Amino acid sequence: MSAILERATRAPALAPVQSVDPAFARDVLAGLSMQHKSIPSTWLYDHRGSQLFEQITELPEYYPTRTETWILERCAAQIAAEAGPEAVVVELGSGSSRKTPLLLAALERPSAYVPIDISAQFLDESVQALGRRFPTLPMAPLVADFTRLQTLPELAFGAAGGRRLVFFPGSTIGNFVPEAAVGLLERIGGAVGRGALLVVGADATQDPGVLVPAYDDAQGVTAAFNKNLLTRINRELDADFSATAFRHEARWDPHHQRVEMHLVSEYTQRVTVLGHAFRFAAGESIHTENSYKYGIVKFQALARRAGWTQRQLWMDAKARFALHVLERVR
Ligand code: TRP
Repeated sequence: MSAILERATRAPALAPVQSVDPAFARDVLAGLSMQHKSIPSTWLYDHRGSQLFEQITELPEYYPTRTETWILERCAAQIAAEAGPEAVVVELGSGSSRKTPLLLAALERPSAYVPIDISAQFLDESVQALGRRFPTLPMAPLVADFTRLQTLPELAFGAAGGRRLVFFPGSTIGNFVPEAAVGLLERIGGAVGRGALLVVGADATQDPGVLVPAYDDAQGVTAAFNKNLLTRINRELDADFSATAFRHEARWDPHHQRVEMHLVSEYTQRVTVLGHAFRFAAGESIHTENSYKYGIVKFQALARRAGWTQRQLWMDAKARFALHVLERVR
């Protein structure tokens, strides 16, 4: 008995066993094997990444969050009027759900709220906070990568509610290449059906003097957010990245009208991930994120291709950010 107990206390049997997420392993190994190394940006958002992103949204240089919030504060009532009573709200990549109360409070007796986020812990925290603010609103949080989601959760369909409203703020749509953005909006539309509303935020800024600092702030929070991906790969995929051997870089690509985020190798080095070795030349980078910036006409054309037509459009006075209210037409 005592021998068993002793073994049990000595052996690290109760230490959390980190099992490898096969999708993460696949994306990282495939991404680092490409000629231009790149890793899909969804992997930036583990719990620590979500926390750091939350800090980004409060940076003086990062205008999108506060601009979109400013817009939403002024147009929530009109969006609510368009939606009508008992709307079922689905939010994609809800994160901290900090903008959600603005919408929920404006809606007339919303019948359900379905937030979808990739970080379980983060989702839990934000749903608890929202539950205190809206105690009678049924909530059905879903831990998922919404880009891989085939259907929307039961509650979104099952609720005998009014109109379906998909809330997709944060300019997350800009993190997809345009073809993928069309595909995603098309799939969302297929899931919610004709007559549903989509409230989607899209950054419209084109000035690199504003854009580059927004993605490379003076305090280095965005750099820490980007580099957290390497820490995550080390922890979850048994890798040996050195965070100081890479630097964060934000580049404006005027041709694609996108900000690119990179992790640039400071020198020639070799890194091992799950037993696979990868070489980096000095200056070679891992492309970790795109943030496309859409003028109004361009975004509307993209939405139309995906089966959505404009109902309302809201912008700030400097025309930096747009909140598009779209209706599913097929
Ligand atoms: N959707 C946000 C955007 O494109 C995501 C984001 C903001 C981001 N800052 C970032 C992603 C820095 C990676 C790195 O603005």
